[in-house]
Amino acid sequence: MLHSLFLLLGALSLLTLVIGQDQSAGFISIDCGLPENFSYTEKNTGINYISDANFIDSGVSKTLSPEDRITHQQQFSYLRSFPNGVRNCYKINMTSGVDYLIRASFLYGNYDGLNKLPQFELHVGPNVWETVKFTNSSISVNYEIIYSSSQDHIHLCLANTGTGTPFISVIELRTLPNDTYSISIQSVGSLARVLRLDLGSITNLTYRLVHSVGSLPT
Ligand SMILES: *[C@@H]1O[C@H](CO)[C@@H](O)[C@H](O)[C@H]1NC(C)=O
Ligand SMILES: *[C@@H]1O[C@H](CO)[C@@H](O)[C@H](O)[C@H]1NC(C)=O
Ligand SMILES: *[C@@H]1O[C@H](CO)[C@@H](O)[C@H](O)[C@H]1NC(C)=O
Ligand SMILES: *[C@@H]1O[C@H](CO)[C@@H](O)[C@H](O)[C@H]1NC(C)=O
Ligand SMILES: *[C@@H]1O[C@H](CO)[C@@H](O)[C@H](O)[C@H]1NC(C)=O
Repeated sequence: MLHSLFLLLGALSLLTLVIGQDQSAGFISIDCGLPENFSYTEKNTGINYISDANFIDSGVSKTLSPEDRITHQQQFSYLRSFPNGVRNCYKINMTSGVDYLIRASFLYGNYDGLNKLPQFELHVGPNVWETVKFTNSSISVNYEIIYSSSQDHIHLCLANTGTGTPFISVIELRTLPNDTYSISIQSVGSLARVLRLDLGSITNLTYRLVHSVGSLPT
């Protein structure tokens, strides 16, 4: 594992001020499997999602079972599945030297009708980022890293490890101010999320910040 570990305390460090949602301006939200040229605004968060068709040329688009579609945000309805090949990669443009939060999300939702939770790997370029594992068909999992590329793009790959067909539901990239952490991200490779805690919360709610004036959820 190349990355060090980080803790995110509270939501403060992750609020990004942006005007509009130009996908090229460092606030990229990709609904994997969404048909080419389609986009929409997710109604709970106000985030605009676009199709992944311009970022990959392999895999097949699939949709969740209706039960799982209605109980999750829209970006989970479609996914891209990779029945062929050991490694299938997305190529996503980034600005070299800029720190990004990259989040990959997965919801199985028995999309293939096999009722069998797959397990596979997520890679950043040639390096293993994470083993994607599920405990429940209807519960999504996501992984985050903070990453700074020395190139103008990143390869995010799904790797088949012989334990089920890889797939991915959502990819999100957010630029971060370059002084969020006192270390240079490039010098450590990347930082992986361990926990994100809402300090002082009196509920057990897991939530995503909803659009408010001047700020957008991350
Ligand atoms: C998507 O848009 C591009 C550019 O307008 C067009 O060339 C292409 O045919 C469209 N693809 C589909 C599947 O409609
Ligand atoms: C990525 O950048 C290259 C080079 O600037 C450009 O040709 C390509 O269209 C970009 N891809 C996307 C999906 O924006
Ligand atoms: C999976 O999660 C759903 C929703 O939280 C729950 O209703 C269901 O009982 C869980 N299934 C298993 C096998 O734990
Ligand atoms: C962050 O960006 C500013 C403006 O481009 C630059 O002056 C500064 O040196 C950068 N800081 C780090 C830690 O890279
Ligand atoms: C939060 O969850 C824990 C463990 O499931 C439970 O013991 C506790 O009562 C819950 N607290 C609230 C405020 O719901």
